[in-house]
Amino acid sequence: MSFTGRYPTTRPRRLRQADWVRRLTRECALTPNDLIWAMVVHDGAEDEIAVPSMPGAPRLSVRAAAQAAKRAAALGIPAIAVFPHIDPAKKEPAGKEALNPNGLVCTATRAMKDAAPDVGIMVDVALDPFTDHGHDGLLRDGVIANDETIEVLTQQALIQVKAGADMVAPSDMMDGRVGAIRTALDAEGFQDAMIMSYAAKYASAFYGPYRDAIGSGKLGGGAVKNPGDKRTYQMDAANSDEALREVAMDIAEGADMVMVKPGLAYLDILARIKQSFGAPTYAFQVSGEYAMLKAAAANGWLDEERAIMETLLAFKRAGADGIITYFAPWAAEKLG
Ligand code: PBG
Repeated sequence: MSFTGRYPTTRPRRLRQADWVRRLTRECALTPNDLIWAMVVHDGAEDEIAVPSMPGAPRLSVRAAAQAAKRAAALGIPAIAVFPHIDPAKKEPAGKEALNPNGLVCTATRAMKDAAPDVGIMVDVALDPFTDHGHDGLLRDGVIANDETIEVLTQQALIQVKAGADMVAPSDMMDGRVGAIRTALDAEGFQDAMIMSYAAKYASAFYGPYRDAIGSGKLGGGAVKNPGDKRTYQMDAANSDEALREVAMDIAEGADMVMVKPGLAYLDILARIKQSFGAPTYAFQVSGEYAMLKAAAANGWLDEERAIMETLLAFKRAGADGIITYFAPWAAEKLG
């Protein structure tokens, strides 16, 4: 800190006395350019299906998602992150529907790119929406098998990019998947397809509403050891240095952007990563964070607009280049 003063010659409140000087001395700002719209799609006919734990963020039909992409363009939101709610009848242990080139993700991607070609489409690479046990990988003897899973994820990423996805976002936390996906994309001529790695993703209680939204329900099934959580592949909430190692590996493997997830409870991780690597770094304000804010606001316990905007600004202040959030359309509208 080069600037230090002493009271009474220095009075920090001088710079807070009026809106104009507060604006003039503000250190960071939030604009629609900072937002990635987290959106859940379904393959039914209804335009919107409400998700009780995520009021205001319903599942959208493919048709509604295409309309939403146009709305994103009009609002100046650069990109949409698409997550699928798959018909339960299509789920089985290996998540084979993930490799269907005419499945929901690919269909939605095509419809959105057609509707709004200038909006970036980013898709999750992971098997949990497609497996009946709700885990992100393939099971071998009840354990999530790393290398076998990577082979499927690589195919999944290729199919998504062939359908028009601009960016793939491996969210599964298998070791080595970024490098495998990069190699496969390059081998098929997709040098320009981007990878945003869920590099530091924690085994978190804050994903609960998302699992309602995509219908992955309770994790488990008899075949899975440690069925109730994802702690054998997602990170332990107590760890910070490990996040730096994860990011270093993903960047070395070819990640263009890295992400920290969840958001608000992990701002220290976000700040460390941004300071250490200087890479494009994103925060995911996850479903549980959305649900908490909406629930408190609905009860009149928080001023909704101020509280949400404060969280979004906090990500920027901590060093995020952008925020993946279910609040994106709402926030972009407020930001004008
Ligand atoms: C799964 C995935 C999850 C989210 C995005 N991709 C959940 C999980 O890891 O269990 C969470 C999104 C949210 O909570 O908003 N690959």
